[in-house]
Amino acid sequence: MSDRPSSSSNQPRIAIAGATGRIGSALASLLAADPVDVVALTRNPDTARMPAGVAVSAVDFERRDSLADALRGVDRLFISHGTSPRQVANEIALIDAAVAAGVRHIVKVSALGPATRLLPLAWHMQVEAHLSLQPVASTALRPSAFMSVLNHIGAQVATGSWTGAAGTGRVNFIDTRDVAEAARVALLEEVEPGSQRAYHLTGPRSWTMEQVAQELSRLLGRSIVYTNQSPARQREALIAGGASPFVADLLIGLDQMFRESVLGETTSTVEELTGRAPRSLTDWLSENISTFQAS
Ligand SMILES: NC(=O)c1ccc[n+]([C@@H]2O[C@H](COP(=O)([O-])OP(=O)(O)OC[C@H]3O[C@@H](n4cnc5c(N)ncnc54)[C@H](OP(=O)(O)O)[C@@H]3O)[C@@H](O)[C@H]2O)c1
Repeated sequence: MSDRPSSSSNQPRIAIAGATGRIGSALASLLAADPVDVVALTRNPDTARMPAGVAVSAVDFERRDSLADALRGVDRLFISHGTSPRQVANEIALIDAAVAAGVRHIVKVSALGPATRLLPLAWHMQVEAHLSLQPVASTALRPSAFMSVLNHIGAQVATGSWTGAAGTGRVNFIDTRDVAEAARVALLEEVEPGSQRAYHLTGPRSWTMEQVAQELSRLLGRSIVYTNQSPARQREALIAGGASPFVADLLIGLDQMFRESVLGETTSTVEELTGRAPRSLTDWLSENISTFQAS
């Protein structure tokens, strides 16, 4: 299926893979106001809600012809793929289809951090390695942990405390809207054919979980306590709380990165790209404070 406005414009055509997701939806709204044609690629075109002017194309990652069809006439491709065991296969299929379709610049959301076995970072390394071999320009956006990962502790915080295995490590959270704004700049920039770049995107400062607890206490007006426990006990608690083993392992891996402070660095890249300082965790917590309050 393709709900594609017939465009005879000379404007660049940008495809967004993951346009219904956190970064993709914010990016679609931003690009809708730019002098570009935008097409949202989604597995579920019937339920995808896009801003006016944004076309929608269905994609089925198991069907190459659907990817070729969706990418016909596209100049630039943005990829923000949801975390899934199919992520590497799907992203590589999309990249190969984009190269075959003549896409000239691919901007991919990857992840900040070291070379590692931890998922999903290891998946991003595989996809970046594949992308690096392609004869097109590419930009890897490597954001630190999203502020929205804190949503998963909301119900626990509402009871006054939460547990994790992040110890006293530091993490610099980023707001996904800042990733979207950096992605917009990367997509609109004119790049040398075949050039390859990576941007390391972080928020304005790093936090320990103890400091996050103090900030939540201040904003909620009552004491919130963070309790550290071993990764093994934390995994048991996550599974007892309803998480699948896959999600529990992702969260334990994230806590390991927090504990080891490997996502603790602060870069000025968001501000250099967008001209505006990245959003603060305090502002994000304030905007989303109901997530941390008893319902
Ligand atoms: N969470 C973090 O702290 C963090 C930090 C750094 C980097 N990242 C990376 O950021 C990227 C985006 O993460 P996110 O959690 O924010 O994604 P998301 O927005 O929840 O998902 C993006 C989109 O991916 C599409 N998708 C296609 N195939 C999928 C599949 N098999 N399973 C799930 N979604 C699929 C979905 O669109 P349709 O349903 O419309 O097809 C979905 O809306 C990921 O690659 C992640 O590794 C995350």
